[in-house]
This record gives sequence, C-alpha cells and structure tokens, in this order.
Amino acid sequence: MTSISTGQDFQRHIPAIGNIATKSPLAYQATRGAARVVNMMQMALAESYINGLEVPDSVLRSLFDTYMPILFKHFPALLAPYEWVLEETDHVAEGSRDLMKLQYDLPQGMLNRMIGDWQLIYPKYSMGLWEKGAVDLEQSQIYMLDDLIEKLDIQDGDNILDFGCGWGCIPNYILSKFPNVRFTGLNLSHEQCEYMRQKMQDPESYLSSGRFTLVEGDLNEAQFEEKFDKILSVGVFCHVGNLTHAFKKLASFLKPEGKFFLHIITVRTPNNISSVFTHKYIFPHGRYWSFDTVPTFNQDFTTVNRWYLNGINYSKTFAAWLKNFDDSYDEVKNLDYGIDFTRFRRIWRFYLIWLGTNFATCDGEINGNGQFLMVHTNR
Ligand SMILES: C[S@@+](CC[C@H](N)C(=O)[O-])C[C@H]1O[C@@H](n2cnc3c(N)ncnc32)[C@H](O)[C@@H]1O
Repeated sequence: MTSISTGQDFQRHIPAIGNIATKSPLAYQATRGAARVVNMMQMALAESYINGLEVPDSVLRSLFDTYMPILFKHFPALLAPYEWVLEETDHVAEGSRDLMKLQYDLPQGMLNRMIGDWQLIYPKYSMGLWEKGAVDLEQSQIYMLDDLIEKLDIQDGDNILDFGCGWGCIPNYILSKFPNVRFTGLNLSHEQCEYMRQKMQDPESYLSSGRFTLVEGDLNEAQFEEKFDKILSVGVFCHVGNLTHAFKKLASFLKPEGKFFLHIITVRTPNNISSVFTHKYIFPHGRYWSFDTVPTFNQDFTTVNRWYLNGINYSKTFAAWLKNFDDSYDEVKNLDYGIDFTRFRRIWRFYLIWLGTNFATCDGEINGNGQFLMVHTNR
C-alpha cells in the first residue's frame, strides 16, 4: 500500500507518464505540450500517406505495433490530443452535422459494400464477435447479436429503443427472432434512414412488419412520448461528449424497471483517448471513453454488469472491412465523395489499417469494446 501511494505521488510530478488526472499543475502543462508533439507526428505520418507516400501496409502495421503499445501502457496521457477529450463537453453529441457529412452520409454503395449487406444481416458498423469461432464477417455479427439478446435479456413483447440504429440491422435481426417485439430506431443519417425506409416497404424485411418505427433525428433533440422496456445503443457513444446528459436523457425514456445496454469502443487506460487523424478525417469529436470511468457517471443509472470484449474481435472486423473496401475498388471508385477518389481511398485505407492495428495491439487487452448493463439508480 505504501509503495503504491508513494509511486503515484512521485508520478504526479513527472510529465507524460501515467494518469493525466493525477498530475500537478506544472506536470499537467508539460504533459499537454508533449501530447501536442506526439499528435503532430501522428498527423505528419497520416498526411504524408494521404498525400501519396508509398508505404506497404505491413510497414505501417509494424510501425503502429511498435509505438502504440508503449503509448497505451506507459503514456496514455499523450493519447488525448485535445483538452475536451478528458472532460465532458456541453452537448450530448458534438458536431453531429459534420459527422454525418464526413462519415455516415457518404455514398452508401461504398459503406454498405465495405461493412457487408446480407439477407437478414443489414450493414452493421460495429464489432463482430469472432472469438466464438466465426468463419466470416456475417457470422461474427450474428454471434454479436445473439450475445446482445442474451445479455439484455430480451423478452418477446418488449418495446425497445435503438439509440443510433445505423441501417436497422439490430432491429431487423431481433424482430426476426421475436414475433411480438416492437422497435423504435433513432438515427440522424439521412442516407441510412433512406435504406431503412426502403426495407420498410420490402415484404421480405422484418422492418416492414409494422413493428418498427423510424425516427430521423439527432440524439441531442430526441424526445419520445412513450416509455420503453429496454434501450440499446451500439457503437454510438464515441460520438457522445457528455455521458451525464446522455444518461439522464435515456433514463427519462425508460420505464422504471427498464434496462439500458450500452456497447461502445473503450480503452482500459486511466484517461479517455482520441486521435487527431480520426478527428479531422473520420469521426469529428470522436473519443474513446475509459472503461472504468463509464460506470461512474451514475446519477441516473447504476451499472449492474459490464463486460470487456477483447480488441482482437474488432481488429478482425476491420481486416474484413479493409478487404471488402479493396475488393470493391471498381464498383465504388466513381461515386461522389466530394473529393478525388485517390485521396479518399488513402484516407480510408489509413483509417482501416490504423484502427485495425490498434485494436489488436497489447493482445487486444487495452483497446477493445465495453458493454454496460444499466438500470435506473432509484427504481
Ligand atoms: C458506428 S454506427 C453504429 C450503428 C449501429 N448501432 C450498428 O451497430 O450498426 C453509429 C450510428 O450512430 C448514428 N449517430 C451518430 N451521431 C448521431 C446523432 N448525433 N444523432 C443520431 N444518430 C447519430 C450514426 O448515423 C450511425 O448510424
């Protein structure tokens, strides 16, 4: 006990090492300065690649594999490129419109092809569960959906809200398993909503069963008349800047005995992290919340169970997406990205290789996904 507290006390005054939240003022400023240098270097590498630097994928991967474990294990404070990554921001979700433009409303011909689109499994832009022996992307997503059904204890007859429902993959799958479940899906992406509207007219889709309600709108403004039995949110909270406000809002949508299942990218580091590259090119204002701190935002919810899913599951998912992206070159190269496809392709290849490698680093034990089962605090 004595040696731990002495160690932490010592680290308080040493810049860059360990937990940023425990730093003395001078060490804090020095750490922020060092983070800026690390992030300039990361951006220089990313932009050189985007601008045409020829580097084999294997070299990029081994570069990330060499320095990311050092940062994750010893210098996580340097992985918070902006001050706001460490704190809650004012809004539930920051910069929603920019995010839709840069990411979710991109040509769906490219996105759907990359993440996969099957008869029952619609595009699902979140981790597949490979560790159960999945042989391909589709099966990994089915395993993940079955896992969700079990952990949230979905019952036939439940009325469920999917907060950030993507292309309706989760509702469609669950509606196919439970003939009396009802779903409401909320999503701000107009293009993804158009996909679901088409499915709602397709007799072969469970979204056309009359048990699915689609709401095109922003998490920030969401309001519902009815109260839900269950709420789930998968892969969305990396866009949420204020957990306190988000949990308060979600608790108000839930029946007193209801349950909320949160599935997010997470890090087992003392502070939240982000990256300058993804903020600028892929997910504006995106951040990965620290696994241990999520349950502490517990004014409205108590976390009754939580699971850490090893990042290798996501690394394999990213590898499958990269392969699909590369394989679809001829089909997607003439779509309208707002920028030249050669540049777009390099941005997206860097993204898929960068995150794919980071999730596998440290044997997937630091950067993975977190699942949190929550109930009302005072029910
Ligand atoms: C990574 S995708 C995950 C989608 C889906 N849950 C899945 O697992 O496939 C994140 C989803 O959140 C939606 N989203 C992000 N920010 C939002 C906001 N401010 N309001 C509503 N939806 C939002 C995106 O459009 C996208 O559909």
